[in-house]
Amino acid sequence: MSNGNRDVQWGHLGKYAEVADADRPVEIIQQMDEIVGPIIAGKRVIDAGCGAGQFSVRYARLASQVVAYDTSSELLAKTRLVTAGTPNIIVTDDLAGLDMTAQPAQVAVLNAVLLTVPSVEQVNRLLALVTSKMTDDGVLVIADPHPCFRQYAVPGKVTTFKPENYLTPGSEFECKLDLGDGKSVTFPDSHYSVGQYVQFMRKAGFKLLDIHEISHAPQSPYGASWMVMVAAREMAR
Ligand SMILES: C[S@@+](CC[C@H](N)C(=O)[O-])C[C@H]1O[C@@H](n2cnc3c(N)ncnc32)[C@H](O)[C@@H]1O
Repeated sequence: MSNGNRDVQWGHLGKYAEVADADRPVEIIQQMDEIVGPIIAGKRVIDAGCGAGQFSVRYARLASQVVAYDTSSELLAKTRLVTAGTPNIIVTDDLAGLDMTAQPAQVAVLNAVLLTVPSVEQVNRLLALVTSKMTDDGVLVIADPHPCFRQYAVPGKVTTFKPENYLTPGSEFECKLDLGDGKSVTFPDSHYSVGQYVQFMRKAGFKLLDIHEISHAPQSPYGASWMVMVAAREMAR
């Protein structure tokens, strides 16, 4: 079920930025901005699993500070390029070693990250690390493709997800994305149900506040294609 090596595969996917663009057309990005923008405005933010940094840069326009964290040196090199000259971004591959005691993060965003993490244990470890760097009233934002719609061939995207695996945490499947001009890219994803995401949050001490379901086009016959979950510390409620 799990190859345990998923982030390494992603790290070597040099075309990551193209994949991200193809999988998140402008309609999705705009809706994410509308949801995430007010949450991060003026706040100290961790962009956990920042990849090539395209969202770190967007967050830095609104947030007071962004810690862009990833384990992939290849993608962090891209992040360093796109964030060069942005004074309120710290780029790191060592979140555990970063002393944030004086200024813990008020928000952590994991955008398109958990679907690349192939086991419950690894997700729990990642969330434990990220949330250990946050304030007691911190807000966690997790965005991933909507798990209820993974099997659908939305325009430009085909997946091998099997609906019978909906309740199998970390079940692997492949996504094929159309990049235009006859080009496509295929990459592995992990599936977690909505219930499993709630369990991840609970384990990290957070409680789900909202699930925003967003799609490529309003009234889309394909239903929601992404979801953005917002959670608060249980003790803060
Ligand atoms: C699909 S990319 C998303 C990148 C970015 N958040 C975005 O939305 O464009 C997933 C990223 O999560 C990172 N990642 C996976 N597991 C991680 C972990 N345990 N710690 C830090 N980063 C991780 C991968 O290296 C990869 O860059």
